[in-house]
Amino acid sequence: MSRSHRLTATLAGMLAATLASAAILTIDLPPETTTTYKPGPNLELVNARCLICHSTDYVATQPPNLPRKTWEAEVTKMKKTYGAPIADDEIATLTDYFAKTYGDERPGATKP
Ligand code: HEC
Repeated sequence: MSRSHRLTATLAGMLAATLASAAILTIDLPPETTTTYKPGPNLELVNARCLICHSTDYVATQPPNLPRKTWEAEVTKMKKTYGAPIADDEIATLTDYFAKTYGDERPGATKP
């Protein structure tokens, strides 16, 4: 290899490395959606109890007009089946939030 070929190869390598690191630095992540539930009553308690094991996705992907009793069953299942650290007297508060924020009591929900 001639001296100039080696220099060209080295420059090409440096350029590739620069481009690669530039690409890594400019990746645009989608907006963060999993660190908080939607605004609603007692949001802080909800975030404290319902983000321990999974993101908001399981909730956000539920049908949009679930009734209160379904949310109550869901909260109870998280506690009884999966061992979520939820006090008995918090079940009603959490249920209220999900019915009013993700369920059929939210503004704009279509009730059957
Ligand atoms: C102790 C861990 C834990 C906590 C805390 C927790 N979950 Fe879950 N959750 C799970 C597991 C495990 C699943 C089932 C995942 C699967 O089936 O792949 C699940 C699934 C779900 C689903 C999907 C439907 C279903 O029944 O599988 C919803 C909705 C849900 N969780 C809501 C909540 C809400 C609301 C809270 C807060 C009251 C909560 N979770 C807190 C562990 C937890």
